[in-house]
Amino acid sequence: MISPNRFATWSFFLITLSLMVAFVRPVFPQDSDADLYGAACAACHGFDGSGNLPAQLGFDVGVPDFTDCDFAAREPDADWYAVIHDGGPVRGFDRMMPAFGQALTGEQIQQILDHVRTLCTDEDWPPGEFNLPRSLFVEKAYPEDEAVITTTIQGEGQDSLTHEFLWEYRFGARSQVEVSLPLHIAELKGTEGREKGFGDLELGLKHNLKYDKQRGTILSVGGELILPSGDESRGFGKGTAVFEPYVAWGKILPRDSFFQLQGLLEFPTESGFDNELGLKGVFGRTWTTDGPFGRAWTPMLGVLGSKELESGGNTHWDLVPQLQVTLNTRQHVTGSFGFRIPATDSSTRETQFVFYLLWDWFDGGVLEGW
Ligand code: HEC
Repeated sequence: MISPNRFATWSFFLITLSLMVAFVRPVFPQDSDADLYGAACAACHGFDGSGNLPAQLGFDVGVPDFTDCDFAAREPDADWYAVIHDGGPVRGFDRMMPAFGQALTGEQIQQILDHVRTLCTDEDWPPGEFNLPRSLFVEKAYPEDEAVITTTIQGEGQDSLTHEFLWEYRFGARSQVEVSLPLHIAELKGTEGREKGFGDLELGLKHNLKYDKQRGTILSVGGELILPSGDESRGFGKGTAVFEPYVAWGKILPRDSFFQLQGLLEFPTESGFDNELGLKGVFGRTWTTDGPFGRAWTPMLGVLGSKELESGGNTHWDLVPQLQVTLNTRQHVTGSFGFRIPATDSSTRETQFVFYLLWDWFDGGVLEGW
């Protein structure tokens, strides 16, 4: 039998130990997320994450403000993980942002990242993970600051080349406006050489309704107004204004794959034109080369359907195999190319070769970060 004395000693010992675990550890949390951040990052980024001034730092590169949601929310975890692990240059930033891959374990980097994520406190801003790769033809749900030049080449039939200039500007947490203008260059019947002319001007508005981090889904609505500024007689314009409301939905799938869907209606304002229903989907997956932090390649397969909403109206289906690749180290300049292949009535519609160059201008100048 245990003597009462021993019992008292053991009880005292166990109670003290429990109290130490319960109270003392949280008072000196050696490895809490915030403490790790404080030890490794605060000297430059500040304890509150808003960044110390260059004068205080002793070098002239500014540090980003992690409390600014407009900046912080749009950067996906994977990019920041890469920068913390390998240092600024891995994403085309300054080497004053040191590499912590040797000093910290992957788990500790994740803990620090979790802490940095608490610094932007406004949940209204959809996280950058939802900014899925831009496909040809399917509008993404995420509001963006982007400039895109898309070139479409049609070799057979009416030999033509179209460059479309698109400017997207994000405002507030969830909205975006855009304007685009195509420049058509075509060899027309009965004319010598190539004819040139601007096409129909498009104005657009997009708003993100909701996103769900658990399910990995994002839903937005938008509308485009297409104005008949192009010369219809030369095939450079539709000859009617068109209003095009749409719904855009995105879903993050396991293993860096994703699905994007867009449903739209086209209402021409003049009679003699058919209303149309469009349904577009794209599935893709991203692979990174040169280690996990290198160039990103995203092959995608798109399916485009459109139906004229009159009785006996035609339905068209197209397939769009395509490949997007990040061109520079910062990954804010990307390129993509693909083919739009008619799957139905291919005798009357031609295959098009399409490619774009995209610049996410919020992330820096077009010549920065190569
Ligand atoms: C010696 C100073 C210094 C330390 C220490 C430091 N950073 Fe930085 N960090 C910088 C500078 C300077 C930049 C900006 C580089 C640029 O814009 O070219 C930067 C940029 C970043 C970025 C890139 C943001 C973007 O623009 O996408 C992230 C993320 C970041 N730091 C996280 C951290 C974390 C987390 C730690 C701690 C583990 C840390 N930094 C420690 C100086 C530092």
